[in-house]
Amino acid sequence: MSKALDGIKVLDFTHVQSGPTCTQLLAWFGADVLKVERPGVGDITRGQLQDVKGADSLYFTMLNHNKRSITLDTKNAKGKEVLTRLIQTCDILVENFGPGVLDRMGFSWEKIHAINPKMIVASIKGFGPGPYEDCKVYENVAQCTGGAASTTGFRDGLPLVTGAQIGDSGTGLHLAIGILAALNQRNATGKGQRVTAAMQDGVLNLCRVKLRDQQRLAHGPMTEYSQYGEGVPFGDAVPRAGNDSGGGQPGRILKCKGWETDPNAYIYFITQAPVWEKICDVIGAPEWKTDPDFAKPVARLPRLNQIFGRIEDWTMTKTKFEAMNELNAHDIPCGPILSMKELAEDQSLRDTGTIVEVDHPKRGKYLSVGNPIKLSDSKTEVTRSPLLGEHTEEILSAVLGFSAAEIAAIREAGALDPAPKRA
Ligand code: COA
Repeated sequence: MSKALDGIKVLDFTHVQSGPTCTQLLAWFGADVLKVERPGVGDITRGQLQDVKGADSLYFTMLNHNKRSITLDTKNAKGKEVLTRLIQTCDILVENFGPGVLDRMGFSWEKIHAINPKMIVASIKGFGPGPYEDCKVYENVAQCTGGAASTTGFRDGLPLVTGAQIGDSGTGLHLAIGILAALNQRNATGKGQRVTAAMQDGVLNLCRVKLRDQQRLAHGPMTEYSQYGEGVPFGDAVPRAGNDSGGGQPGRILKCKGWETDPNAYIYFITQAPVWEKICDVIGAPEWKTDPDFAKPVARLPRLNQIFGRIEDWTMTKTKFEAMNELNAHDIPCGPILSMKELAEDQSLRDTGTIVEVDHPKRGKYLSVGNPIKLSDSKTEVTRSPLLGEHTEEILSAVLGFSAAEIAAIREAGALDPAPKRA
């Protein structure tokens, strides 16, 4: 079967998480992704959080499937010649170096555009143009500067970061969307362009409901926030709202049977207005259907603690799965809190390729997240991540057309292997 991005070559200069997320997705859609890594070192995550001695870490393998690896010292004169050839040959360059790195390497946008006017150059940085544009950024910095941390957690607690990597993986996905749009425009114009995604912008984009709420504050208290029902006044910035729903249908995390010993015996329960009467019947509170304090959504807002307390009395008599089955039978929106262990063992996620088992020559079998985006005419087949420099010779000869003698000269010049250790 053909793939959506067949024929597209990606010069992958990415490292750590944000950029690799983007290029892995392009690889899953069928692009030929050539990951350029520093000789002897490679992507720093190969050696970070290592669980199997001598094997690339899961951090690396889970972000670099379906790619080929070439080691190349791009600060070496011969290495720069190879890089120039890669730029001439590829359609897209993706990088998430620190600010200014590509320029210092001698490959500014202007230079790349002159070498290959069709090339799309896609970059992730921590911040866009402005006071922080020169700063290096990691995931949690982006969560803190993009509005996620100030709005996550409980009102009386610290700002919190979330386990979802919205700064890294989130921005990688944003960048991939920009690249695909630029590819489409190139089909019409024949010209490449720059695509940039800043992590702060990506996080803020994902936190848009909180910017919505910031503006609503000027027009009175936000009645769906628990603190409204608790009589706690609002300040001048969006508060942390615990597990309150971010939408117009109040929701909470509630205890289920076994919560005393199981840290994940909970369910998210949404009191969606259209199914309110069914909720009343299921939890054994039919009188609320007609009681003026509970019958209408507006009347319920100041009483959310009382309402969720009563619902919790019911959920605590069920396991989270029993509760979900009963609630789903009545179209009541809810979701059990699933642990990573439960997700890893979920057969339906294996069946759809959302979780895949991959074999690796140095670590054996491991689980990874597969492509969450399913295309009916471009199926994703997840293949293992490359070893460092595994495809150096293959790329130099088969992709770039260097002869054996030329490759020997490049190697001799020290562009491919680690510099020899001084005595
Ligand atoms: N050959 C020779 N040198 C290479 C090379 C190669 N193949 N690949 C990288 N390098 C060099 C670069 O030239 C640069 O050297 P310089 O600083 O002397 O110019 C250096 O390696 C890499 O620098 P940098 O990207 O800044 O790495 P870092 O480890 O210092 O910082 C980050 C890591 C993630 C903080 C930084 O890259 C960053 O802020 N990136 C943008 C935001 C981002 O994506 N953050 C999230 C990462 S998940």
